[in-house]
Amino acid sequence: MAGKVATLRIKALVAGNWKMNGLKSARKEVVALGRKLARNKAACDVLICPPATLIAGFREDARTAGVALGGQDCHMQVSGAHTGDISAAMLKDAGARYVIVGHSERRADHGESSAIVRAKAEAAHEAGLIAIICVGETRAERDAGKTLRVISSQLAGSLPLRANAKNTVIAYEPVWAIGTGLTPTTQDVAKVHKAIRARLEKRFGFDGAKMRILYGGSVKPANAAELMAVPNVNGALVGGASLKADDFYGIISAYT
Ligand code: 13P
Repeated sequence: MAGKVATLRIKALVAGNWKMNGLKSARKEVVALGRKLARNKAACDVLICPPATLIAGFREDARTAGVALGGQDCHMQVSGAHTGDISAAMLKDAGARYVIVGHSERRADHGESSAIVRAKAEAAHEAGLIAIICVGETRAERDAGKTLRVISSQLAGSLPLRANAKNTVIAYEPVWAIGTGLTPTTQDVAKVHKAIRARLEKRFGFDGAKMRILYGGSVKPANAAELMAVPNVNGALVGGASLKADDFYGIISAYT
């Protein structure tokens, strides 16, 4: 097993999470990114998760740009009396291929437990979407030396039984690194990603060895190459720096 893992090549994914940012006019960023990618093809998959209101309108430009689209959350049910919610099937219908579930902002702002996150990931799989399942410790948990315990428990609770390398991506996002300009040291990132890989392999075998593990939290063009070179980092989940094509391309370039 160890030999196989050592020679495994995992195609990286650089994903942009626009959060609650962007109006129709932001379409120009997708077009601009497409122009850059046409000149210099990315050696990774590229994904933008804009607000759900923009997915259908971005569909053609994203297709031309070679960029996939994703949602930022989905409901665990396919349809029904859930005012304001959006189902995975709806995201798929609008043009999404991926959906982020369990982002720390949803876990904190909407009280989403790992059990809810797992149900959402299952709904995503049922709809044919790739679930990007987020985990990450708070500053207090890190300071208390609980990082690996927290990550381990979030992984155990949030991953569906039938997760595999094709339908699931893990994103490690330390909560304290999100939007702060702070990042863990590359040694700390390596330690957490190695622990995540070990847990994925233990639970899913060879699929766990192939599953992509993204790092997220203050990834910028200036630090992307260093972070993306860390073992078991198979791409990035980018917030602020994904909003502008120039910055986002600067991160994607870590792989070109
Ligand atoms: P920033 O890149 O803005 O720190 O956000 C990271 C994030 O939360 C992506 O999901």
